[in-house]
Amino acid sequence: MQEKAQQLLDWVDARFPLTATWKSHVSEYYAPKNFNFWYYFGSLALLVLVIQITTGIFLTMSYKPDASLIPGTNVSVAFASVEYIMRDVAGGWIIRYMHSTGASMFFVVVYLHMFRGLIYGSYQKPRELIWIFGMMIFLCLMAEAFLGYLLPWGQMSFWGAQVIVNLFASIPVIGPDLSVFIRGDFVVSDATLNRFFALHVIAVPLVLLALVGAHLVALHEVGSNNPDGVDIKKHKDENGIPLDGIPFHPYYTVKDIFGVAVFLVVFATILFFLPSMGGYFLEDNNFLPADPFKTPPHIAPVWYFTPFYSILRAVPPLFGSQLPGVLAMGGSTLILCLLPWLDRSPVKSIRYRGTLYKTILGIFLASFLILGYLGTVPGNVWGTFAANVPVIGGVDRAVLLARFCSLIYFAFFLAMPWYTKIDKTKPVPDRVTM
Ligand code: HEM
Repeated sequence: MQEKAQQLLDWVDARFPLTATWKSHVSEYYAPKNFNFWYYFGSLALLVLVIQITTGIFLTMSYKPDASLIPGTNVSVAFASVEYIMRDVAGGWIIRYMHSTGASMFFVVVYLHMFRGLIYGSYQKPRELIWIFGMMIFLCLMAEAFLGYLLPWGQMSFWGAQVIVNLFASIPVIGPDLSVFIRGDFVVSDATLNRFFALHVIAVPLVLLALVGAHLVALHEVGSNNPDGVDIKKHKDENGIPLDGIPFHPYYTVKDIFGVAVFLVVFATILFFLPSMGGYFLEDNNFLPADPFKTPPHIAPVWYFTPFYSILRAVPPLFGSQLPGVLAMGGSTLILCLLPWLDRSPVKSIRYRGTLYKTILGIFLASFLILGYLGTVPGNVWGTFAANVPVIGGVDRAVLLARFCSLIYFAFFLAMPWYTKIDKTKPVPDRVTM
């Protein structure tokens, strides 16, 4: 039997580099031996990607992208098809909750994965392209989540899309035409739902998969960074194997399987006990069918967009145009791409950075979390005062705080070349520490 299997493998290997690929990317890929907790999130992001694609395929079998109303009701075919999945399709409820919970968990995992990059300087030379591919993945992920959110055609789906697509209209010259082009209509309508469906189920996932492939190819080209930020390729044995490296398989496959098990326990707990996470994963208003004649009192995006949404709300309009806020929001995501060139520190890992950098990173993290929180609370959006919002000098307190935190957010990046240069770093060891 074993002989037959070997013959089959030899046959394949003579035609396709199966064993060679397995060796170079898995069993003989030497990764630093000091990976810690923060190194779980890359493989977990891969797991969530697989969960999203698989559950998405099954949802598509019963979902209908159709905004027309069922005769005699105010419920669209799309909304009803989601209810049908939840109530009548065998196992439909768990597949739908896996997909909606997976969307939020994707961002939890990716934010932690990005934060790891920040604390260990994983974006620094020679890993700039890994970071850039990562940023492209992040932008695609945001697009994917936004497009998918329209599909249930609930109140938040409809009004959220309305607010966000309208932002494009503030771009000078091309803006108004661009927003009509995105919607496929003058208002968010059935045409919008159909194109968002096409983009959500095939176009963006294809790009996402290609980018994840490029991300991993770039990673394996230069090798992983590690919590010490030292280059393990500097010290090799007589066979050319890094002294501080261990084969990815079996050592890190086992470690990652442990991470997957813990993650799945958390994931299942959310699915079975808290699928809407108190309105954070599935908003209450989205259990109501879309009504183009009834604006919800408080339109807020899902939690993972709220830091950037806060920056949008924090910037006042100029001559009635929302463009400054839109530019600030766009800039706040794109500026992350520049990190590899803004950081001038001679060391990578936070372990060997000085107090100055550690303090600034702490303040940045706090501001980002506060911005995230502020994006969830009702506030004064460009002069239209929501009821019961405390106001100071004509501006509500949430907006004032959001302005302050937005300034810190941008200062973290813009002042980085300066403070990373004067920061008093510690000497980096030659070999990894355990
Ligand atoms: C679908 C989303 C993503 C997937 C599946 C993914 C997957 C992975 C995997 C499997 C690794 C190697 C294991 C590890 O270091 O944890 C990795 C490393 C890395 N990723 Fe991602 N990633 C994703 C998104 C991102 C994003 C959004 C960024 C940043 C903008 C990013 C930046 C990095 C960096 C810098 C490394 C190298 C880390 C090091 O060597 O220390 N990734 N990624």
